[in-house]
Amino acid sequence: MVLAIGSDHGGYELKEFLKSILIESGYEVKDFGCYSQDSVDYPDIAISLCKELQKGSFDRGILICGTGIGMSITANRFKGIRATLCNDLFSAKMSRRHNNSNLLCLGGRIIGKDLAKEILNIWLTEPFDGDRHLRRINKIDDEI
Ligand code: RB5
Repeated sequence: MVLAIGSDHGGYELKEFLKSILIESGYEVKDFGCYSQDSVDYPDIAISLCKELQKGSFDRGILICGTGIGMSITANRFKGIRATLCNDLFSAKMSRRHNNSNLLCLGGRIIGKDLAKEILNIWLTEPFDGDRHLRRINKIDDEI
């Protein structure tokens, strides 16, 4: 699975942490920035990553800002992207099983590194349940 990751300054530290774990685990990871703690605008990062995710340049994405809210609002404007803000383990599990999440949003100022690592692991490994949930997610793209 090829992954993309991005953050603003509020998620920079957590992005660097998760990126190194992913690389150590053998994932190919494309980093869309930011590349320091300097202030940037989260939509710029989200938009550049989401355009590439829509094109199929990688399989799934991870976006981190202070709360995860700005990243998820931006990402969900893109048809076919199912961005799920998961700052807890149960949401991470259900976002895969019921929503077939293809983009994980995290709040770098809300959760700690250990919890973020567990959330990421669940989100990477839980399968999509399909069936009625497939019908439901298809309605999102069909109707909008
Ligand atoms: C940046 O200060 C902050 O607004 C941003 O990281 C994010 O939390 C927005 O939703």
